[in-house]
Amino acid sequence: MKIAVMGYGTIGSGVVEVLRINHEKIARRAGEEVEVKYILDLRDFPGDPMEDKIVHDYKIIVEDPEIGIVVETMGGVEPAYTFVKAMLEAGKQVATSNKNLVAAKGAGLIAIAREHGVNFQFEASVGGGIPIIRPLNKCLTADEIEEISGILNGTTNYMLTKMTDEGADFDAVLKDAQEKGYAEKDPTADIKGYDPCRKIAILTSLVCGKQVDFEDIYCEGITEITPTDIQYAKAMGRSVKLLASSRKEGDSYSCMVAPFLLPDSHPLCGVNDVFNGIFVHGNVLGDAMFYGSGAGKLPTASAVVADVVDMVKHQHTNIYIDWKPEKMELIDYKESTNAFFVRTSSKKQDIENAFGAVSYIEAGVAGETAFTTEIMTEKEFEEKSAQIELINRIRLG
Ligand code: HSE
Repeated sequence: MKIAVMGYGTIGSGVVEVLRINHEKIARRAGEEVEVKYILDLRDFPGDPMEDKIVHDYKIIVEDPEIGIVVETMGGVEPAYTFVKAMLEAGKQVATSNKNLVAAKGAGLIAIAREHGVNFQFEASVGGGIPIIRPLNKCLTADEIEEISGILNGTTNYMLTKMTDEGADFDAVLKDAQEKGYAEKDPTADIKGYDPCRKIAILTSLVCGKQVDFEDIYCEGITEITPTDIQYAKAMGRSVKLLASSRKEGDSYSCMVAPFLLPDSHPLCGVNDVFNGIFVHGNVLGDAMFYGSGAGKLPTASAVVADVVDMVKHQHTNIYIDWKPEKMELIDYKESTNAFFVRTSSKKQDIENAFGAVSYIEAGVAGETAFTTEIMTEKEFEEKSAQIELINRIRLG
């Protein structure tokens, strides 16, 4: 099997490395040798062992009948979409790690692949090296999946862990995550939560079989989390985790990405560093947890290459994926319910006038008051908190 890799960055070079490290095992499992014939990139790589395979025009790959599988690790929607579409239409199978592409164009590309009797697979687009797309698509098909919630971004989990354990500075720890190859090219997508937002949109689309638009999901990142919040978290026996969640409610879904204060006893509290943890609840399965390396060169490349192996084994069979372009209207997040941890400069009397009875939290922080609320809708919380001087608020998990 001759393949092409589009994008020779962190993940693309990881794919080449995984194919080299585990060459024989991969050949045995796939049933034939897998060889990289082309690498598409804008750059040249003088001195790189793959230098002679570099091409700059995607049409060379489209027009080569020897290429059966194409790996897309370029990132971004365009030109990745144009290239991937052309590959599928030319009868080539495509494996991608690109969640931006999958979240925006997944349903359409799945349909094009089916029309042409090939496969479009995207295991690496969610959870890095953790299998979660294939389990949802192939293993948990007897269930109505009622809830998925998890830590879906390795960079921010790494940052929050370092900020909690070492009191590390936000910028320094972000730089460290970038150097380790965890972060997106533009890390805004990580720290503002856009990356896990796309990932929960992909998982919810797979669960409901319709298009969930990530733009419809309420999304907060970790940019507002301060060392003082972490000090309070410790005083409460909790940790701050950026959660992406999706819950079935009636015929629709309630989705959200936001930092939560989880009790230390919560299973996702033990998910630290770059690890991701994904909790799934099915109506007949009950609970399942998926845990492992959520970002980084080789773990992500491992998932891409596993897709390649699967595609070698299904060269003339389209593996059905239930994700249609029809839009799923999500429930307005303002109707979802949470309890909140609140920091304010207002007096207790004003707090109680707005919220009624609350539980105050002591963490030795001067000049402010902190408390937790009862469970209420987001809308109610907005109305009540508008009556006090808010410093910060974090939802309780
Ligand atoms: N930037 C992403 C993360 C990479 O940190 O999780 C894996 O999708």
